[in-house]
Amino acid sequence: MPTIVAITPTYFRLEQKADITRLCQTFRLVENLRWLLVEDSFNKTALVQRVLNNCKVPYTHLNAPTPQNIKNAPGKRKFPRGGVQRNAALAWIRKHVDPKETKGTVYFADDDNTYDVRIFEEMRYTKVVSVWPVGLVNAGKFESPMVKDGKVVGWIFVGDTRRRFPVDMAGFAINVQLLFSHPKAEFTSSSRANVLESSILEGLNVTLADMEPRAKNCTEKTNIDGAAEGSLLTNFRQNFDLSLKTIKRAFLQNLTFRAKKKLSPRLSNGALVV
Ligand SMILES: *[C@@H]1O[C@H](CO)[C@@H](O)[C@H](O)[C@H]1NC(C)=O
Repeated sequence: MPTIVAITPTYFRLEQKADITRLCQTFRLVENLRWLLVEDSFNKTALVQRVLNNCKVPYTHLNAPTPQNIKNAPGKRKFPRGGVQRNAALAWIRKHVDPKETKGTVYFADDDNTYDVRIFEEMRYTKVVSVWPVGLVNAGKFESPMVKDGKVVGWIFVGDTRRRFPVDMAGFAINVQLLFSHPKAEFTSSSRANVLESSILEGLNVTLADMEPRAKNCTEKTNIDGAAEGSLLTNFRQNFDLSLKTIKRAFLQNLTFRAKKKLSPRLSNGALVV
């Protein structure tokens, strides 16, 4: 059975202990998972060590401080939070995992999200990149690959339209072999936030044709991105059926939702194939 390698960047704030405890308890329900937890700190902290000691999930505890010049970049953040830590985890995998011995799937599991445990079995046999819908992303109700005849043909999303792959960190997983066939691929710094996911996928040289839709051809929403406002949860009751017939309705609801929030609608090139 392929291993799931879950990479989680974490940093100190009041919710940290609660967040990583919740994540630990989710991971406990998943077979054959290794947790790479990377602290944004100069030292590994006792707080995180204590949670890991009690967690009963196989883990590797790492730390990688975000350099001050990145942290304090004025105005726009040069490198969105977590990038340095995820790269440290990728370097660890390339150093310690033998790609000939290990079959595995790499997943970037941030600590402020809520994960439906079923998604781990969906991603476990990822050949190249697997993708699925995620709820409450970027102040939209959900983001999702658009699937037609079992193939990803576009994306439903809100946010930066310049991303080649407008997926949330919680919405994709990659086969570990890709990290070895593309040894330089990592999260790259950019003046724009929210492009990190796209940057790693571009580095890994994947195409739309490589995307394997999961969660019943992306008709099931399996994760909730906790970085979205908690109050939005009340808007997340409806389980959209993303058949082509209903995509339009769902998409318009996303737009209406944004309009109510006074956010400007942005459409992707691919997202209006309805
Ligand atoms: C996804 O769609 C394809 C094409 O319509 C179909 O063959 C396949 O069985 C579907 N997969 C699932 C899991 O529903």
